[in-house]
This record gives sequence, C-alpha cells and structure tokens, in this order.
Amino acid sequence: MADSKPDRDAAYALKTPEDSVALYREWAKTYDQDFAKANDYRNPQLIAEQFAKRCDVDMPVLDVGAGTGLVGEALTAHGLAPIDALDISHEMLVVADSKGCYRNIIQGDLTGQVDIPDSSYGGVISVGTFTHGHVGSEAIDELLRLARSGALFALGINAEVYKANGFAAKFASLKGRIDGFEIFETCGYGKQAEARLQQTRSSVALFRKR
Ligand SMILES: C[S@@+](CC[C@H](N)C(=O)[O-])C[C@H]1O[C@@H](n2cnc3c(N)ncnc32)[C@H](O)[C@@H]1O
Repeated sequence: MADSKPDRDAAYALKTPEDSVALYREWAKTYDQDFAKANDYRNPQLIAEQFAKRCDVDMPVLDVGAGTGLVGEALTAHGLAPIDALDISHEMLVVADSKGCYRNIIQGDLTGQVDIPDSSYGGVISVGTFTHGHVGSEAIDELLRLARSGALFALGINAEVYKANGFAAKFASLKGRIDGFEIFETCGYGKQAEARLQQTRSSVALFRKR
C-alpha cells in the first residue's frame, strides 16, 4: 500500500483487498471526523433516503462496505431494521458495531465469495465501496446470490468508474435477472468540502432482483 496518510486520495490509489485492509485499519478511528464530517459527506443519507422511499421488502438489509456505519445510522433514522454490516476491515466494523444499529457484523471480502447463505436479504445497499481502488462490478453477482427474489438494491457507484470500469456493461448483461432498473446521480459532498470533492458525482443504481 502507499505509505501515505489515510484520506480519499490514498483510498482511490488502493490496488488490492490487502491494501484496503491496511488503509482502513489506520483510518477507522478518525474517518467519521476527518473525512465524513470535515467534507460534509452526504451520500449515506442521500442514498439511504432513496432506498427507504422504495423499501416495501422483507428485511433484513445488507449494508455492503458498511465502514463505520454511516449508512446503518441513516437507515435506522428511516425506521428500517434489522440491518447487517459487511466489510473487509475489522477496525471499521468495530466502529460500526459501536453505533448500535446493526444486527450482525460480518467481515468478508467482496472480491470473492462471502460466508453468507444464498437468498438471505430482502434489501442490499452500498455507499462508497464501488469506487476507484475498491470493489469492481464482478461483486454484483455475489450480491445477487445473497438477495431474495424481489430484493431491493441501491448501489452507489463513483460516476467516473461507472462506465470506465464496466458497471454500465454489467447492468446491461443482467437483463432477465433484475427488474425496474433506474439510475440517479448524487453529489455526495456539501459546501464545506474542498472544490474538487464537490465535483465528485455518484451514479446510484436502483433495481430489484427478479
Ligand atoms: C469509503 S468506505 C465507505 C464506508 C461507508 N459505506 C460510507 O459511505 O461511509 C469504503 C469501505 O469499503 C470497504 N472495502 C474495501 N474493499 C472491500 C472488499 N474487497 N470487500 C469488502 N469491503 C471492502 C472498506 O473497508 C471501507 O470500509
């Protein structure tokens, strides 16, 4: 891993799951303050809100790449429960667990198969994990395996990697396996963030497993 301090630039430069484990081990204790609060990071709330609006499904929900639990907190504020947290980083999950909004905390690497039975979830949400240096579109097959028929998905994907790293092609290839596909764009950082962060866009894919 790059020997830089943990921040968004270092996160975008990651290359392997082991890099993620090392970076987020260092970042876990300060992420909520020096990243989320300092940059007015809004995607957890924005994407959870859209998920909650459409959520008529059987629980539980899986929060994929849950990190320190910002999405779990946002879903809980909308009255959704139970929620499980999945992440590769033990240290990020320790912080998520301390928020008290998750039923289960599950450590797993989404670039391979995770230790969760088929058809376990009525909803799947992810924020900040399908991005530069993190998890690619190949993980979507594994998420579909974990979801029940009719499960609601809301996957936030960095807009730069959406086309460049094969997400658009991946969704096109899922014809017949998903229904109601729609996409909307968010600006995940508010006015307190530095200008280049304010320009970051996420493509949020909403759909249901057939
Ligand atoms: C930018 S954080 C986003 C955390 C949270 N969802 C949020 O929006 O604040 C990205 C998360 O993805 C996790 N991650 C990175 N690679 C992963 C992998 N291969 N499998 C599972 N989680 C991974 C990291 O550990 C980290 O917690």
